Amino acid sequence: MKVIKNLIVLLIAFYLTLSSCNARVVNQACKYPGYSTKGVSKTANGYEATLNLISPGPYGNDIKTLDFQLTFETQQIFRVRITDPNNQRWEVPFVNKLVGVNPDTTDYLIQFTNAPFGFSATRISTGEVLFNSTPPADCSTNGLIYSDYYLELSTSFSENNPNIYGLGERTSQLRLLNNFTYTLFAKDQGTASTPNINLYGSHPFYLNLASNGNANGVFLLNSNAMDVQITSNSLTYKVVGGIFDFFFFTGPTPNSVIQQYTQVIGTTHMPTYWSLGFHNCRWGYHSIAETAQVVANYSKFGIPLETMWNDIDYMDQYRDFSTDPVNFAAEDFTAFVDSLHANNQHYMMIVDPGISNTDPTYQSYIDLVNSGAYIKAGGTDAPLVGSVWPGYVIFPDFLHPNATEYWTEQFANFHKIVPFDGIWIDMNEISNFCDGNCFNNNHKKMPGFDPNYPPYIPGGSPLYMKTINMTSTQYNNTLVYNSHSIYGYTEGMATQIAAQSILGTRSTIISRSTFPGTGGHFAHWLGDNESSYNDLYFSIPGMLAMNMFGIPLVGADICGFNGNSNAELCGRWLQLGNFYPFTRVHNSFLSIPQEPWVWGQQVVDIAIKSINTKLTLLPFYYTLFHISHLSGDPVVRPLFFEYPTDSNTVSIDKQFLVGTSLLVSPVLEQGAVTVNAYFPDDIWYEYGANGSLVESTGFVTLDAPFEKINVHLRGGNIIPTQPTSGYVPPPNGIPITTTIARKLPFTLIVALDSSLQASGQLFLDDGSSLQTYVNNEYSFIEFNVVSTTSSVYKLQSSIVANGYNGTSELNINNIEIYGSPNVKQVLVNGNAINTFDSVTETTLIVSNLSLPLSDSFEIDFM
Ligand code: NOJ
Repeated sequence: MKVIKNLIVLLIAFYLTLSSCNARVVNQACKYPGYSTKGVSKTANGYEATLNLISPGPYGNDIKTLDFQLTFETQQIFRVRITDPNNQRWEVPFVNKLVGVNPDTTDYLIQFTNAPFGFSATRISTGEVLFNSTPPADCSTNGLIYSDYYLELSTSFSENNPNIYGLGERTSQLRLLNNFTYTLFAKDQGTASTPNINLYGSHPFYLNLASNGNANGVFLLNSNAMDVQITSNSLTYKVVGGIFDFFFFTGPTPNSVIQQYTQVIGTTHMPTYWSLGFHNCRWGYHSIAETAQVVANYSKFGIPLETMWNDIDYMDQYRDFSTDPVNFAAEDFTAFVDSLHANNQHYMMIVDPGISNTDPTYQSYIDLVNSGAYIKAGGTDAPLVGSVWPGYVIFPDFLHPNATEYWTEQFANFHKIVPFDGIWIDMNEISNFCDGNCFNNNHKKMPGFDPNYPPYIPGGSPLYMKTINMTSTQYNNTLVYNSHSIYGYTEGMATQIAAQSILGTRSTIISRSTFPGTGGHFAHWLGDNESSYNDLYFSIPGMLAMNMFGIPLVGADICGFNGNSNAELCGRWLQLGNFYPFTRVHNSFLSIPQEPWVWGQQVVDIAIKSINTKLTLLPFYYTLFHISHLSGDPVVRPLFFEYPTDSNTVSIDKQFLVGTSLLVSPVLEQGAVTVNAYFPDDIWYEYGANGSLVESTGFVTLDAPFEKINVHLRGGNIIPTQPTSGYVPPPNGIPITTTIARKLPFTLIVALDSSLQASGQLFLDDGSSLQTYVNNEYSFIEFNVVSTTSSVYKLQSSIVANGYNGTSELNINNIEIYGSPNVKQVLVNGNAINTFDSVTETTLIVSNLSLPLSDSFEIDFM
């Protein structure tokens, strides 16, 4: 069988090679035909060529000769680098984990045209063209353009109106528009602005889903500002600097594309367990007393609160690493955070990159100047001066070798007063209220090349807008023009190193600006949204896109940041937000308060129920993070990831899957008490409702009264849960936290498929130590149901790893089986028990089991 398959693949490859010469009639008469080559030569692990300019591009300074290198990185990944052999151009100084593994065979066939030059990649098994940069005969796209400040390269698609996802960060529907130009350039721009424009981070990665269900992906490793123009049959990169350094991923499943992408940029960091709990924040808690009152109210109303946050209100004159001497007096602050810790709760606060420069006695300023690690105004050695909340500021240069030490020292000193558990880094696009440079704000374009006004301007407005001048420099004379979009990433790296060295454990770093590779080290929230149903919806594609970018710990400001929320919107948002991997309520000081109790008992009840649902599911979420840590899989994903051949799923972004199995279908419209949910062809059970079966697939109208969010479990899956329902807090004690929740007895939810099979996994560790996987300080358990006849089945656990020493204290108490045939007898490790009951015709509950998770077990159902 295998021999025949290989033969077919070889024949297709042979045919494709033969047909390659006349695959496309190329046209040198196009206005911008690009480059030609005298020939492409084979290297040990790919191809190389010298490219010669045919005729100049539109913006001058074309590079006459280029190096082309194509490397087979793995069987599914190849890389293309096009560089200037005579000049070292700017290259992103990280994100290059992949070392070629010299694959013996590849899933892709590479072909070339010599004049004009172009390359294409074809999936060998199906003959699909995944990428083709050869300029088409009708000149509808240009050939390669490579000049000092403008690079252009296009691919044509073999299918019209392709399904393209990614190219963030932006507020948009998940499936990107055809016939639209997307800008990528980190910018302090809230989601309340026009949809589709560039926001806080830059992620030059897209996933392309073909109509046959096969997916491929392309990552351009480049930090310069760029536009990516999508038409109905092509995609064009228009980049203002750096080099072309592409990684191509052949998939073929959407999930495998993301696995391959994260092989390059790094897989997910293992989050702290507590970061998955419920967070409360607001800009506008004006004192420790007010902050403490909010925490007390959570307890008073019986709403679980894991982490309390403060915004810039805590600072003295909005200066980093300072505390307001009156309202956040140091001793009160310390006592407050200590009291949180005494209750197993956590504390996080905001820190911005700008360091106030108006007071020569401000220690963080003195230290920054002494370190030399600050961003310099163009052409000088003086710091570039911007303006943020404290007024005039200078910015640490996180590319400078002294920056991490400076940053760590500031946090270490601050931690002595405010013993924080995690750090929130904001305004790091860099955001600047002065547009450019506060002290030299001549915005006229300079003659010649002006980095603020490159010959082609992605997005159309000068690049210094809302940020610092592009003429500013970082370490080694790096122009901010090149490094602008990696600032948040470099700050996040320094912050993570600082936090881990101070805490000695994992920490939680939430950053507004991100770049490829972020998810390997820290997390993201989606920025300033509106308290609106529109933004309630946009939070789903926003979160799903970030998961495709390898940043699974993500969520939107629940109840909305700008504008006033209301009971219904906030209730619905609490329901949805407790399925985000990162769950935080946050609000602007200009808006009315929106903590759950503000809206009355009904929303309090919704908050309690929603948070308990998330806490109950935490073992499942945490296991998904472990899988993401190992293989890069998203934690939440769109339906098309699991049902890529179902064309109905390609644009569904109002529902999503947690892992591969839990389908969340929230209400996103005011006044709605039903939801029109799509169920792909499979078996679906209602989660948390005695596993009732969804009668039909396709679009189904579900009841969704205010107190309910619809969640369904896909047959064939087992999910580990720790129900919080049995937990009663001690008298005057605070509601449940993750510290308590993670010790509760487990309930396994087993959703059988039509052949009475199911499987699932559980990852356990202490939730905070560094490197538990590498150090074998974790347990990993697999659960499987196999059936022997149409009514007899067996559930087995197998202990794959048992290195977490808390495992033996954890028990499985209950097992809920959805889709079970009528069961008359249950044997646990061979012994008959009678603690089982059919709660419906098809749902069986086995209780009071007390099975230690450290021991494998077998349960027979007959
Ligand atoms: C902008 C952030 O996006 C927002 O979350 C924060 O509240 C304000 N800055 C004030 O720090």
